[in-house]
Amino acid sequence: MVRRNEQADRRARPSCAVESIHPDDLPPGDVRIAVEWSSLNYKDALACQAHPGVVRKLPHVPGIDCAGTVLESKDSRFAAGQPVLVTGYDLGSGRWGGWSGQVRVPAEWVVPMPEGLSAETAMLYGTAGFTAAQSVDRLRQHGVLPGAGEVLVTGATGGVGSLALAILVRLGYQVVAVTGKPERATLLRDLGAARILGRDQVDDSSGRPLLSERWAGGIDTVGGNTLATLLRETRHRGCVTACGLVAGDQLPLTVFPFILRGVTLSGIDSAQCPRALRLQIWQHLAGDWKPGDLQHLVHKITLAEVPDQVRAMLGGQTWGRTLVRPVA
Ligand SMILES: NC(=O)c1ccc[n+]([C@@H]2O[C@H](COP(=O)([O-])OP(=O)(O)OC[C@H]3O[C@@H](n4cnc5c(N)ncnc54)[C@H](OP(=O)(O)O)[C@@H]3O)[C@@H](O)[C@H]2O)c1
Repeated sequence: MVRRNEQADRRARPSCAVESIHPDDLPPGDVRIAVEWSSLNYKDALACQAHPGVVRKLPHVPGIDCAGTVLESKDSRFAAGQPVLVTGYDLGSGRWGGWSGQVRVPAEWVVPMPEGLSAETAMLYGTAGFTAAQSVDRLRQHGVLPGAGEVLVTGATGGVGSLALAILVRLGYQVVAVTGKPERATLLRDLGAARILGRDQVDDSSGRPLLSERWAGGIDTVGGNTLATLLRETRHRGCVTACGLVAGDQLPLTVFPFILRGVTLSGIDSAQCPRALRLQIWQHLAGDWKPGDLQHLVHKITLAEVPDQVRAMLGGQTWGRTLVRPVA
């Protein structure tokens, strides 16, 4: 639970602690779920700091995704014992989230567990994998297909980045990974990266509105000047998706990549992804886009271990996916 200590200065950091809550205290909703696994995403790390862009009200239970089993449902589409997952919407931001033994949510948010996925694998992908898969889907919609040329993935050791890399490789793309962690090069090669670049190699400060064309497309997870550089280096009619802001929320850019090269910048907002597409994306993740064995990407932690992992994530020190086990 994230709380503000009433005695403390309002500017003081909120505290994070494991607390017991009663199911009656859960927010209202149609479906109550016993959570087996949740995960740690960058947005959760911000929620632990009560970031006002994520958390509207304290006390708060973070966790923007979860997978488990239905305990009870007022909606006929779901029945007790059914395996399900939830990502996005207001889970873990406007409402209490998945770092809890149980959640109660609107039925519209609930996705039946696709055949071929367990609760653990679903959360290995989690919001990160769902976002990565939507980004890949967007590239395909814009004609960036395997064989079109190199596709760049930034923040490649992160949750979204590593899963985007794994999915693209599974689909036969030639992927170049950008990372600030050269010591994780083996991990990126094992995921199938054809080449690895340092962050400084996609961070142009020349001020030139266009740079030499290098990429058929890109999946950017970091924003800022990295995204601006990638767009200026994208080939004619290429597409770049943007989902993140860890490197900055500003985009220092002119319109020239768009009006002279027809480049598309496509925004990814996974929280509000329409339900039909949401179900389709999860079917892909469970089937034809399912990456190979990703166990080497996974860290499993308990709620008590969350604060250390959050600090590491906000400091840019984490890699891969962190699964959170909300019950012992
Ligand atoms: N729009 C959406 O729907 C949506 C959904 C999910 C996530 N996101 C956003 O996507 C971003 C990534 O999320 P995530 O959960 O994958 O986070 P993450 O696991 O922490 O990964 C972020 C990665 O970015 C790189 N990075 C960290 N600090 C950086 C810096 N200062 N400059 C450049 N690169 C840096 C690191 O990779 P390297 O060391 O390999 O470079 C890090 O592993 C976040 O901004 C998150 O809020 C958005």
